[in-house]
Amino acid sequence: MSTSQQPTRRVPDDLSRVSIATETGGDSGEYDVTAAEEPNGKDAKNKLGPTGRPRREIPEPPLLERHGPARVVAMCNQKGGVGKTTSTINLGAALAEYGRRVLLVDFDPQGALSVGLGIQPHELDQTVYNVIMERSVDIEGVVRKTRVENVDLLPSNIDLSAAEVQLVAEVGREHTLLRVLRPVMDQYDYVLVDCQPSLGLLTVNALTAADGVIIPLECEFFSLRGVALLIDTIEKVRERLNPKLDITGILATMFDPRTLHSKEVMARVVEAFGDTVFDTVINRTVRFPETTVAGEPITRWAPRSAGATAYRALAREVIAR
Ligand SMILES: Nc1ncnc2c1ncn2[C@@H]1O[C@H](COP(=O)(O)OP(=O)(O)O)[C@@H](O)[C@H]1O
Ligand SMILES: [Mg+2]
Repeated sequence: MSTSQQPTRRVPDDLSRVSIATETGGDSGEYDVTAAEEPNGKDAKNKLGPTGRPRREIPEPPLLERHGPARVVAMCNQKGGVGKTTSTINLGAALAEYGRRVLLVDFDPQGALSVGLGIQPHELDQTVYNVIMERSVDIEGVVRKTRVENVDLLPSNIDLSAAEVQLVAEVGREHTLLRVLRPVMDQYDYVLVDCQPSLGLLTVNALTAADGVIIPLECEFFSLRGVALLIDTIEKVRERLNPKLDITGILATMFDPRTLHSKEVMARVVEAFGDTVFDTVINRTVRFPETTVAGEPITRWAPRSAGATAYRALAREVIAR
């Protein structure tokens, strides 16, 4: 199932004009127990997962004897509210449970990733902004440990919003993040970069530093709008700046197995992107907003929840790809 050697799947040009019925089945409220995960659910009978493909069990990843160099993964979608930050925190925490050392980079001036890990961004003296804009500030002094073992954070706050404009004048402006990450690459197995909801210079920096991109995609009517543009940007970065860049996978988020609508969006996503879509699908559940308030990943806040189980499955898929 390795996709790393394959060229990126071409996206149908009409993706933004895809029509999906908007009718929904049951109510659209949030819930926790999911039909898709119930052993007696009707999906279990025909052994198909929510993607419509047969369920595959991905084995526990082997333990590592040595750490690094890190694989850099950009969590990217210019649409906001699709689960980028939630997926960065929880995939990171799940990778760490499998013994991987993880650095999470908050690359959004909103600082939601930092907040989600219990850090108050406005109280920070130094952030990723200082690391990328001031050569005298080295990354090791700004990276901090989190409450999650083996998960470190390069935090961000609103200061970063100035970087987009200031970087434009710099030589090698697209390579800034890559350059500042270099000194710590050997200490980590994964660096996950939580991108802001835009395709501006910060996101291009993340893509230039990355080996892979994970695209969280909300199972909602408008989710496919803009994905063609995102893939186009990824292809341009690969051609011009970073030939090793690859799409690690598309992650369907906020899936509601009770609604026809979610299933139709899912079917359309699989039709468009095939095996690039992860088998793991993240269901909609109120547990995720709760974890933000708690400042903890779901793997710690509700370790036995369906959400925690799903992000562990995603971590196994990411390690296997
Ligand atoms: N699977 C999910 N089910 C329900 N709510 C979710 C889920 N994933 C994320 N959320 C919530 O949706 C909001 C947006 O998610 P977030 O991860 O911040 O998206 P992004 O980083 O793409 O803007 C947050 O309030 C988050 O708690
Ligand atoms: Mg975010």
